[in-house]
Amino acid sequence: MKSHQKNNRPVILLVEDDETMGDTLETILKKNYRVIKASDGESGLELVRKTEVNLILLDIMLPGMDGLEVLKIIKDQYEDIEVIIITVIKEIDTAVRAIKLGAYDYVTKDFDYDIVLNLVARAIEKQEDKKKLLYFQSEMKQLFRKDFVFGTTEKMKEIYSTIQKVANLQSTVLITGESGTGKELIARMIHGQTDDLSTPFVVANLAAIPKELVESTLFGHEKGSFTGAHKQHIGKFELAHKGTLFLDEITELPYDLQAKLLRAIQQGEIERVGSKKVIHVDVRIIAATNKGLKRAIEEGIFREDLYYRLNVIPINLPPLRERTEDIPLLADLFLKKYNQKFAKKIKGFDESALKALAGCHWQGNIRELENLIERLVAIGEREIISLEDIPLEYYVPFLDANEEVSKEDMLKKACMAFERNLILKTMEKAKWNRKKTARILGIPLSTLKYKMTQLNIYETIRTKI
Ligand SMILES: Nc1ncnc2c1ncn2[C@@H]1O[C@H](COP(=O)(O)OP(=O)(O)OP(=O)(O)O)[C@@H](O)[C@H]1O
Ligand SMILES: [Mg+2]
Repeated sequence: MKSHQKNNRPVILLVEDDETMGDTLETILKKNYRVIKASDGESGLELVRKTEVNLILLDIMLPGMDGLEVLKIIKDQYEDIEVIIITVIKEIDTAVRAIKLGAYDYVTKDFDYDIVLNLVARAIEKQEDKKKLLYFQSEMKQLFRKDFVFGTTEKMKEIYSTIQKVANLQSTVLITGESGTGKELIARMIHGQTDDLSTPFVVANLAAIPKELVESTLFGHEKGSFTGAHKQHIGKFELAHKGTLFLDEITELPYDLQAKLLRAIQQGEIERVGSKKVIHVDVRIIAATNKGLKRAIEEGIFREDLYYRLNVIPINLPPLRERTEDIPLLADLFLKKYNQKFAKKIKGFDESALKALAGCHWQGNIRELENLIERLVAIGEREIISLEDIPLEYYVPFLDANEEVSKEDMLKKACMAFERNLILKTMEKAKWNRKKTARILGIPLSTLKYKMTQLNIYETIRTKI
């Protein structure tokens, strides 16, 4: 495994046989970067294999393998490492060849410190962007493997066809749905349907950004525009240029910024904080929320005009409990995924397990299902997962806080849920023996049987007794 970047400082590899030159460069660079050194091409390549390197400063004239050869190998094997060539004036032709081979730029040996620092900073920035892009692309590719299960539900088929239709339109999409229903995944998928996969997909989770930083995170800021703005910052809008900006948890957008967002969407124009310069951005917006936007409008915390502007193409993802027929498919997908991750060979689920899964409430939707399967695979020892492997709390129904019930009903339901839970847990302890369970609970067997019918327990544990 490659060693990690220490303290997250970018790593620069200096390949230079001239010691004085190497030391000078190291001195000026080590303030901002971690510098490692090699005095010839072979040992340089060896270091690249072992360490995560962001940038290489590469001398052309080296003992043994020359700089151009090293460059070719680097560009061939590591698509995200940038290379700056170090050369003497009379070798400029070679430097030009190096650039054609993919070097970022060159410096001559009579360099000026500031120029070198500047060049290095830009190369690193480019390298980091490229890395992000590669990451996005690999994520995209992953999505188009069989990783995503739309399922057979009518609702999901409809959503699928909507995605196909909007793929190459720039229309704004508003995705709603409970937590864990796959909103972000759908957003990525919509983005991934566009023809050009090299365009950025940028995420801004408005619930995760401190309120006072939302504006500069989205729109960027100029150096010195507020206390703490030590340098210029490019906002997510600009980063998403020509691509997609995914605004997650849109209801959390502070009211005073909603007008600015509206303008950015409508006119494709933004201004960085602390600047009057208008910047044009061509960005597709996909917004998502698991909260009721309509209610937020009624409460006066969300602008209606912005809502209509966002809600051009609405996609509502159903909660998992409303698409239970897709559960076996999803469970199987996650089973394969975690079998692979944990090097396990679990074959599948038996009927009792699938039935239990179909009856769960799935408050956390697909994410919760995935977490459960991960856990089952991680600790599972048998080939087939069955009911007793599934933790009881999953299939004991509990109260839905959102459900409108009267106070008396609430109490009754709570008692029933508690009773059911207790009986099931005791039965599990008593190895599903009813007599023993009744004894532990201190009730007659006939009462236990009556309660089991009343609380629908037989249905749940049919295969056990
Ligand atoms: N249809 C699907 N097929 C496979 N995996 C899915 C599917 N939908 C969601 N997932 C998985 O479920 C998890 C939750 O998905 P995602 O993050 O997109 O949900 P979300 O709606 O954005 O949730 P939240 O509101 O909590 O942010 C992820 O791990 C995702 O990979
Ligand atoms: Mg999400």
